[in-house]
Amino acid sequence: MPKKRILTGYRPTGLLTLGHWFGNLLNMCELQEEFEAYYFVADWHALTSDWQDTHSIRRYTEEMVLDWIAAGIDPEKATIYRQSDVPEVAELTLYLTMVTPMTWLERVPSYKEQREQITEKDLSNAGFFLYPLLQAADIAIVKGDIVPVGEDQLPHLELTREVVRRFNGQYGDLLVEPAAKIAREGARVPGTDGRKMSKSYGNAIYLSESEDETSAKVMSMMTDPARKLKTDPGDPDICPLHQIHKLVGDEDVIAEFDSCCRDASCGCVAHKKKLIEDLNGYLRDFRERRAEMASRPDYAWEVLENGAARVRPAIDELMGQVRRAMHVDAG
Ligand code: TRP
Repeated sequence: MPKKRILTGYRPTGLLTLGHWFGNLLNMCELQEEFEAYYFVADWHALTSDWQDTHSIRRYTEEMVLDWIAAGIDPEKATIYRQSDVPEVAELTLYLTMVTPMTWLERVPSYKEQREQITEKDLSNAGFFLYPLLQAADIAIVKGDIVPVGEDQLPHLELTREVVRRFNGQYGDLLVEPAAKIAREGARVPGTDGRKMSKSYGNAIYLSESEDETSAKVMSMMTDPARKLKTDPGDPDICPLHQIHKLVGDEDVIAEFDSCCRDASCGCVAHKKKLIEDLNGYLRDFRERRAEMASRPDYAWEVLENGAARVRPAIDELMGQVRRAMHVDAG
């Protein structure tokens, strides 16, 4: 039995954080062992929402590849490529627009939500409206069997399945209907202010930042807000410092800080210093590997080029069949 093909894409809109590490990257490393993994940088998807400010997309594409590989994604095992290096994705998106009623796109929940919630960007463009179809084309063009998704992406996958069925019904069984794999719930990592870690909240710890930057962020981290004085007992269960420490520290050290926080026999500063040591220690190998790769000019671009070459034959074959079925081939 050939391995099933798993596929996932990430928009290159920023550096990866500790939240991505525990939420996605560890999972992606595991999946590359069990499946044929396709991990791609969705630079066109970044365009759909950031079309007014595109200057960082290339840089973040490169940074993402370095983050992935330093985290343990093996470019020999997983195929790493860039969406825009497969221009037929745009062609297939166009074909999919033909079989997709506009109402299907209008009812995608993330579309309405993001248009309402994200006010600092202009999302009234048709490109953003077509976001889920571009995603459907990403998946269909490489015959992805399985897409690991969080709750928020489920409707996109459901739409993909419906569109694939409609396309196949009209033109013949050419596209594969992908299955969703509800991603194993990764640990939820709080940011330095206790809210969910996110670039847009300005509370993120970046994997690739320096030890000094991490130290400064940890020193300024929020702890149990009710613990005003060192002599006040604290509650580690609501302390973001403690939640992060649990992910990277030794069990007995964690247990010690848990109890000395509760009986106020240690202070938050001592805990911060220990977290700095443990967190920087945890990320040290990653940071060394990443710095080494970053020092090789064009390393990330070579990885992407190889990945694009690897997917090429299957794309040519499928798109040949699709054009023929739709009577837009050379005849
Ligand atoms: N929509 C995904 C996100 O916002 C990114 C993405 C684009 C994707 N194409 C994909 C994910 C294909 C899985 C499969 O994060």
